[in-house]
Amino acid sequence: MLQKPKGTYDIYGDKALKMLYFRKLVTALMDKYNAKYFETPIFESSNLFHRGVGETTDIVSKETYDFKDRGGRDLTLRPEGTAGIVRCFIENKLYADTLPLKAWYLGPMFRYERPQAGRFREFYQFGFEAFGSNDAMIDAEVISIIVNLFNILGLKGIKVYINTLGDKESREKYRKALLDYFKPHLNDLCEDCQMRYEKNPLRILDCKIDSDKDIMKNAPKMTDYLNEDSKKHFDKVKEYLDIMKVEYEVNPSIVRGLDYYTHTVFEVSADIQGFGAQNVLAAGGRYDHLVEFIGGPSIPGVGFAVGLERLFLALEAEGILLQEKSPLDVYIFGTSSLEKSYVLSLANNLRMAGFNTEIDYNDHSFKSNFKHADKLSAKFIIIIGSLEVETKILTVKDNQTKEEYKVKLEDIIDFLDEKLGDDDED
Ligand code: HAM
Repeated sequence: MLQKPKGTYDIYGDKALKMLYFRKLVTALMDKYNAKYFETPIFESSNLFHRGVGETTDIVSKETYDFKDRGGRDLTLRPEGTAGIVRCFIENKLYADTLPLKAWYLGPMFRYERPQAGRFREFYQFGFEAFGSNDAMIDAEVISIIVNLFNILGLKGIKVYINTLGDKESREKYRKALLDYFKPHLNDLCEDCQMRYEKNPLRILDCKIDSDKDIMKNAPKMTDYLNEDSKKHFDKVKEYLDIMKVEYEVNPSIVRGLDYYTHTVFEVSADIQGFGAQNVLAAGGRYDHLVEFIGGPSIPGVGFAVGLERLFLALEAEGILLQEKSPLDVYIFGTSSLEKSYVLSLANNLRMAGFNTEIDYNDHSFKSNFKHADKLSAKFIIIIGSLEVETKILTVKDNQTKEEYKVKLEDIIDFLDEKLGDDDED
């Protein structure tokens, strides 16, 4: 039997309801922030991610799905959303519009990782990017969006960790300090880290193999190498978070697995007992040089992405269902195949009038039609026989009270509106 590829999953049933519910919720939330919806291609030229995310990151060096198309182009399935949005921002000259521009997106990302609970090879992110402001206010606001979203969903056990990577000057000073520090320990580091030492020593701190070693724990901390501007920016972010009553903890060991960050970086974790190792539900930060690096003007950005699978697992762990079933208003069947076209056209009219409608396609018996309608939790059942066709008076059964009504065809929409009006308002 053909099976889905390793690390992927199908979305149907409850999962599908969750996805739809979540999309609806964030669509409304993003309107509150005047953020605009974006969709960018699922594959882009490999160069974009390799440069944008960084050649020495694990994501690019080990996890991208790279391939050549039939025209010999090097393409990559997007491992994350930021680089594509930045490319779109530059290519469509969106920087010429009023800034800041706030963009949001929701879609699948692809990373060749070892699958386990909360870690997939195809996974979904809801992401947000704001272009065109250096102000720490927007860093704090971006973090608060995640916290607000999780609060709306009712998720309680979360923890916000923030850190700063400083500006270019601070980063350079820190890079030198790391080179000096790791030089005598090079032989104790894994092969990858020895390569990272040459190319990008900051990435050593992100190593999953060496992370428990003492040399890592005692490594110089970024916070000791910040210049005045970087310190000021970080202090402001903290001040604004305090003003918005967003609780956080400063965690100097957060460096993040992507190269594009400057200044503020953050992670929002599930603080739920027994929740697995993949507990970072959302993460992001500021990227002041990425737009320029990818070929655009010098415009700063800041953003985040939420991993949907992990968020759903965290919600489940707290017993939050996160779904809104779309109820079936009407089930229609004919008593013989002669009424089929009548059933079809009535259903078409009712659907266009806004009612969720299902019909019998398969000439079920009278009894099994009622059973079927029950299974679908239909609120009303309309039964069409030859008499109904002739008199244009429909037999309508309230499937909850079991009461039966005779309703003129021309009045059926008003009748259903009146009966269902209250619970179908939205
Ligand atoms: P990231 O930390 O690589 O950041 O991913 C963000 C979130 O995506 C993670 O916190 C996690 O919840 C989820 N995630 C990542 N990999 C997987 C996986 N293999 N399976 C399931 N979930 C996963 C970014 O992607 C940046 N683009 C975030 C950002 C936006 N920074 C600025 N703007």
